Parts: sequence; structure tokens; C-alpha cells
Amino acid sequence: MTDALARACRPRILPVATVADVAIAAPLAAALAAGGATSIEVTFRTEAAPRVIAALANSDLVVGAGTIRTVAQVDEAIAAGAQFIVTPALDDAVVERCLDAGVPVLPGIATATELARALALGVEAVKLFPAEPLGGAALISALTGPFPEARFVPTGGLGAHNAAGYLRLPQVLAIGGSWMVASKLLAARDWDAVRRLTAEAIALGAQG
Ligand code: 3PG
Repeated sequence: MTDALARACRPRILPVATVADVAIAAPLAAALAAGGATSIEVTFRTEAAPRVIAALANSDLVVGAGTIRTVAQVDEAIAAGAQFIVTPALDDAVVERCLDAGVPVLPGIATATELARALALGVEAVKLFPAEPLGGAALISALTGPFPEARFVPTGGLGAHNAAGYLRLPQVLAIGGSWMVASKLLAARDWDAVRRLTAEAIALGAQG
């Protein structure tokens, strides 16, 4: 597995943050690291996202870009310092651009057909999205029958209440979620809560 992807998935918890203010990048990274996280996915849902990624690129965290929908965004994210790319949907051109650049990509898939297409493109793992509405851990188990080589990073609707069901599956490399970096916590600069919720999530990952 690509080193950046292996490091991003090692504690099996991938925090997914939407950050509008680059000024909070450093305290956010510190709180995540204090909670035991080793990675962060910064969504491309704010104008500040590339600058936040650049600000985090020299932190202790493996920094990825999420919500990537276009080839232009792939280029922008990699230029900013993103070490992995996450997409909400499967787009061949986006995946190929990442692979050509040697940057690991977790493309969003929601069906067996999309999973087959992603594997044929040569990805190491996929993001099942949105995992909970689609069927959650039961869907991953069902897909593993015909696709035993598939590896998953499910996100969408996950939290401390349902993480264990995913983490007990060996084909789940990590789970992604925003619950430990929820927008209201970031808006309140509640770094103690970010650290605590991250530590609780990492503990779940260690048990899985
Ligand atoms: C997303 O892209 O929205 C992520 O998958 C995070 O989902 P969540 O906010 O439900 O954790």
C-alpha cells in the first residue's frame, strides 16, 4: 500500500474537517494529534481549503484533500501539499489524475458496479459514501463476497455509536467522519472537545 495511505489509515480513524478559517489550522492539528490522530481530510467545501492544507502540510498529520470533484481540484490540492485525495463520487479522470501523480486516492463508490470500476482503474481502496444510508457495514460485508480484494474507508453518517460495526471488518482500513471535528466545535474553538472525541475514536479504532 502507498505509504501515505498506510499512515493515514494506521489508527483506523480519519477525521474529516471542513475549515473556513486558516487561522484554526494549527490549533486543530494540535488537538487532533493530542487525541492520537495521525491524519486529517480537509474538505474542498470552503474557499480556504487549499490554504488550510498548505498550513497543515508541515504538521505531524498526514494531510489529505476531500470532496474533490474535478481534475483541476486534484491539481490544486496536490500543489497545496495534499498527500492523499478523497472524492465523494467515482470519476475516471479524477482517479487517473491522482494515480498519474502518484498520490493515493479514495474514490467514493456506492454500488457494486462503481466498486468494480474503481478496482479496474487500479485504486488501493475506496470510500463507501454515504456509508450509513447505503447500508453500512452489512453492505461492505455483502460486497466482499464478489470483491474480496476490495478495501474500504467508509464515511457518511458514522460516529461513536456505530463505528464498532465497521471496525470489526478487516477489509475496512479506516473509517472517516466529522464527529470529532464537527463544525460547531471548530466554530467554538473547543479544542478540548476535539481532543477528547478524537481520543475516544482512536480507542475504538484500536479495539476494532
Ligand atoms: C463527508 O464527506 O461528508 C464525510 O463523509 C463526512 O461525513 P459525516 O459528516 O457524516 O461524518
